Amino acid sequence: MIQVNALHFSRLDGAKPRPILSDLQLTLAPGEQCSLVGDSGTGKTTLLNLLAGLEPLQSGEVTVGGQSLSGQNATALAHFRRQIGIVFQSFQLLESLSIRDNILLPFRLNGGRGQPDRLASLCDALGLTPLLDRYPMQLSGGEQQRVAVCRALVHRPRVILADEPTGNLDEGNSQRVVSALQTLAREQDTTLLMVTHSQALARQFDRQLRLHDGQLHEVSAP
Ligand SMILES: Nc1ncnc2c1ncn2[C@@H]1O[C@H](COP(=O)(O)OP(=O)(O)OP(=O)(O)O)[C@@H](O)[C@H]1O
Ligand SMILES: [Mg+2]
Repeated sequence: MIQVNALHFSRLDGAKPRPILSDLQLTLAPGEQCSLVGDSGTGKTTLLNLLAGLEPLQSGEVTVGGQSLSGQNATALAHFRRQIGIVFQSFQLLESLSIRDNILLPFRLNGGRGQPDRLASLCDALGLTPLLDRYPMQLSGGEQQRVAVCRALVHRPRVILADEPTGNLDEGNSQRVVSALQTLAREQDTTLLMVTHSQALARQFDRQLRLHDGQLHEVSAP
């Protein structure tokens, strides 16, 4: 689950702090799936980075998967990040590792040996099976993005934070990625928060949020 209370976050604009998130509230129940839209620059990536423990909190309470992120040191935050699944807007694949090893990294960091049973079915679902022995530089942007999605799912995280996981994909592959995220999240009761600029994809979620003026607003179904 995700619980955010009174989250404020500003960035320095020259010498002056510019508020990005102000008194933001969010509760996502275990297993809840939610899309997040909002204009470019409103702070969606900033919010996901805060939820992932990648940016230090300035004020407010954030609890993700039962772990409070306030006052945690770097080691505790690094351990926390291994428990969740993160798809970055900028993929963050390791160039020196094969696709297979990139995908298996979170599984191995969590002490997994060999390969998880689900690797084959996940790679099939995402169309990655023929690419496993290549390296990130030998993949298109869309293929790299699907690898990043696969990597975020392989260790069965309790929470998945996905930042525009379909930003570089054609319609067919976008649908494939969203379906894989939703199906896997449903199977393992994982909380899923997915940022997208596509209204069509956002509408495929039971719960839809919009970030505007530093706060989250429920989008009601048409
Ligand atoms: N490292 C940084 N230093 C200073 N300002 C930043 C930094 N990263 C982002 N910003 C600013 O913070 C604001 C929020 O950025 P953020 O990346 O969270 O937006 P976003 O909603 O994810 O946008 P997009 O839809 O384009 O991905 C923007 O005004 C951006 O210019
Ligand atoms: Mg962003």
